[in-house]
Amino acid sequence: MDDLRTGGIAILDYGSQYTQLIARRVREGGVYSEVFAHDAPAEHVNRNAPLGYILSGGPNSVYEDGAPQLPDYLLASGKPILGICYGLQALVHALGGTVEASPKREFGQADITHYHPSPLFDGLPPQLAVWMSHGDKVTRLPEGFTPIAESANSPYAAIADMTRGYYGVQFHPEVTHTPQGAQLLAAFTQRVCGCVPKWTPAAFIETTIAQVRARVGDERVLLGLSGGVDSAVVGALLQRAVGAQLTAIFVNTGFLRLHEAENVLRVFRDEQHMNVVYNDATELFLDELQHIREPEAKRKRIGKLFIDVFSAEARALEGVRFLAQGTIYPDVIESAQNSKAAHVIKSHHNVGGLPDDMHFELIEPLRDLFKDEVRKVGKALGLPDSIVYRQPFPGPGLAIRCLGELTLARLDKLRHADAIFLEELEKANLLVGDTAQCFAVLLPVQAVGVMGDQRTYEEVVALRAVQTDDFMTADWARLPYDLLATVSRRIVNEVRGVNRVVYDITSKPPATIEWE
Ligand code: XMP
Repeated sequence: MDDLRTGGIAILDYGSQYTQLIARRVREGGVYSEVFAHDAPAEHVNRNAPLGYILSGGPNSVYEDGAPQLPDYLLASGKPILGICYGLQALVHALGGTVEASPKREFGQADITHYHPSPLFDGLPPQLAVWMSHGDKVTRLPEGFTPIAESANSPYAAIADMTRGYYGVQFHPEVTHTPQGAQLLAAFTQRVCGCVPKWTPAAFIETTIAQVRARVGDERVLLGLSGGVDSAVVGALLQRAVGAQLTAIFVNTGFLRLHEAENVLRVFRDEQHMNVVYNDATELFLDELQHIREPEAKRKRIGKLFIDVFSAEARALEGVRFLAQGTIYPDVIESAQNSKAAHVIKSHHNVGGLPDDMHFELIEPLRDLFKDEVRKVGKALGLPDSIVYRQPFPGPGLAIRCLGELTLARLDKLRHADAIFLEELEKANLLVGDTAQCFAVLLPVQAVGVMGDQRTYEEVVALRAVQTDDFMTADWARLPYDLLATVSRRIVNEVRGVNRVVYDITSKPPATIEWE
């Protein structure tokens, strides 16, 4: 427990797809919040002494057998509670009110009017646009409650028992479709619960550095640097905390993008002054991968080779006690919910599968951060935008974007075409981090073309650009035709051996984002 994380908010998850969003919105207001399963043990939920609780929405009906209810410690705590959607219904049910199935379901945008003064809506206009998504509704309030806002369909769009600090909203303040939602959550956390907004990147950095120093003492720490945002931010943090004791291993598989290895070395070695062991294993990877075509076989071989190279470098370092990893909060929530295990290492992480005889104690300084917070911390640590806003890049890299034979010449062709695409997207300001992934793919087919008076018979590049929220589904980006025209012209003119460029207009599903 530390000062930075105490006095925040505990969020109980009743199964809503928006639960993580609640935590992010609360934190954007400067108040630390954590997500727990609704039936997590009280000691766990209360470990950081939260000043209030938020109950998420969820898919159940509170009056049905087996529906998740309020845990006993909640009402006994005497602390404020905000119920959102199902959370409101669970609160009402627990306190003796009535919730029933509603003949009129309410989905989407709605307007609410708040007419009863309350700390929740104080300072907001009397009419607010909100996002509703519910079938059940409250039909009788528990004793002590008053309605404070209504919509056309919900006389109880927001309710309160201000004496006890109990609030409920039928709508979702955490989604962007509720424009004043963040203010409403801040009103609950600060006015009602009395939380002090102290969760900032600067405070996080200061606290984390002190914690890492205390834990590491004068021992050595190892880090696998990939160039991705998470490992980069862990690296920059540890460099500040225990610089001289930190060694990063950076393996170049040969499947990185144009100038990527140089860029990583420049930033970490030259600008951050980090000890970086650089292993250019391009030849090894190419030798081993050249004749493998099947995508999963490529992934397995690359993963194994990576571990071999990484662990050989790690063994060469003497007396390393700690291994730093870029695990972030969504991984922690997911693994806790999937397995109920408290401490699971990210399974797809590059160094997750070290040989059994190699033992390190893990340091995971970003375990409590959402991706957008990781980026803010990265910015505050002075990392360049090219790293902080880097799009996700798969571990096997260009090996799964170079379809057909994996040779240096073909990989260079792909690197060059990819760099042109990214450069033009950047010029057009379309290369935005969080929600997009854009890249080139080299296809294993040749097409006929004509250049000057010459017939050509060369390879085809496919461009892929998608918009996505979670990488589980994605839609192809409607890029401007003029931009596509420029990219196509530049690629066929500047990249030898390519005479045709196509744009992938398939969504996921049925396609995947990568081609392999
Ligand atoms: P797909 O192609 O499955 O990709 O729609 C979804 C997201 O996952 C990334 N991806 C990978 N990341 N190792 C990784 O680290 C992999 O083998 C791998 N395959 C796909 C992909 O880039 C996209 O962001």
